Amino acid sequence: MINPTLFSMNSPLKSYEFLLPTVSGPTCIANAWAKIPTALNHFEKSAYTEKVRAHLQQRDAVIVAHYYVDSDIQDLALETGGCVADSLEMARFGRDHPAQELIVAGVRFMGETAKILSPQKRVYMPDLEANCSLDLGCPIADFNQLCEAHPERTIVVYANTSAAVKARADWMVTSSCALAIVHQLHQEGKKILWAPDRHLGRYIQDQTGADMLLWDGACIVHDEFKALELDALRKKHPFAQVLAHPESPADIVALADMVGSTAAMIKTVTQSSAKEFIIATDQGILHQMRQLAPNKVFIPAPTSGQSATCKSCANCPWMAMNGLANICNCLENQSGEIFIEESIRSKAHFCIDRMLTFTQNHSELLAQTQHGFVKNIGAA
Ligand code: 13P
Ligand code: SF4
Repeated sequence: MINPTLFSMNSPLKSYEFLLPTVSGPTCIANAWAKIPTALNHFEKSAYTEKVRAHLQQRDAVIVAHYYVDSDIQDLALETGGCVADSLEMARFGRDHPAQELIVAGVRFMGETAKILSPQKRVYMPDLEANCSLDLGCPIADFNQLCEAHPERTIVVYANTSAAVKARADWMVTSSCALAIVHQLHQEGKKILWAPDRHLGRYIQDQTGADMLLWDGACIVHDEFKALELDALRKKHPFAQVLAHPESPADIVALADMVGSTAAMIKTVTQSSAKEFIIATDQGILHQMRQLAPNKVFIPAPTSGQSATCKSCANCPWMAMNGLANICNCLENQSGEIFIEESIRSKAHFCIDRMLTFTQNHSELLAQTQHGFVKNIGAA
């Protein structure tokens, strides 16, 4: 097996986890928390819901939502003919739906992906500053430097990146298809430059045996799960299955019974005979799990030890910036529209379109790898 090289702190390039909160302005995480919409009372909720329903019809618009957003938005998206999905399905749905306007309730890269795939549609986001630590931790100038230093490598980027980074890539992947695509590239003898999530990159490397040079980024939400505590929790719930998103650290993945995308996790809870699940991902996902498997028990994976003074909550601060009021504002005032320069859009389109074609043509390989049950599919 080829020895993979790890791009880490020793690299001549700077190591980013994400742009630090000392940066003032919209990219700062403190700013994300500050912008979380205030909770609505019952009357406000129904007033906004009714308004949004009416505007969606009038404007020929549809909501494309991620599993992590507020449960009222998830319900409204489904009731009005939109979708609640993982990032792969959001991209497909937005591209294929006949509506002329898309309201993308998620984070910035999801809105940009929708616009890249459907330049003729108007794409809005409730808050354009809803970003992602992976995207913020992979600035295009530094990414370009790494690509230029390794021209022999095939550039594979995670969906959680800017349009400019995608424009520089050969392939874009999501957590639903990353294993299958890298497995295929490895079979073709390709060496890979991977960005930005080091945990997902390392997981794919372990599973496929591919030669991968990894960017040093991380998701601030998944990075918080603690293996020691997870192990203790599992002992208290010996019949619970542990489901983990592959953005989680290696010691969490090692303890998991299933590793996969948000969609794969949802599928697992509906199909598994287990009655109890420990869930290592953003807690927004629990809403759909409870809807689809109402008789099962879902326990959030622990994010800190017993003695910790502060507990993180496994809620993405940027996903939480989506609210009914700012969705209404998009529709009423056409605020939050996504624009992407055509030269970048058309280049980024290439690597996303390629991924969608691959997933359409390799359903068997995808099914084999989507739930992360198959270990070492590519090992020699
Ligand atoms: P999925 O594609 O699995 O929904 O993941 C997106 C994401 O941002 C997870 O943190
Ligand atoms: Fe990004 Fe993590 Fe939020 Fe997903 S949960 S959008 S990876 S910061």
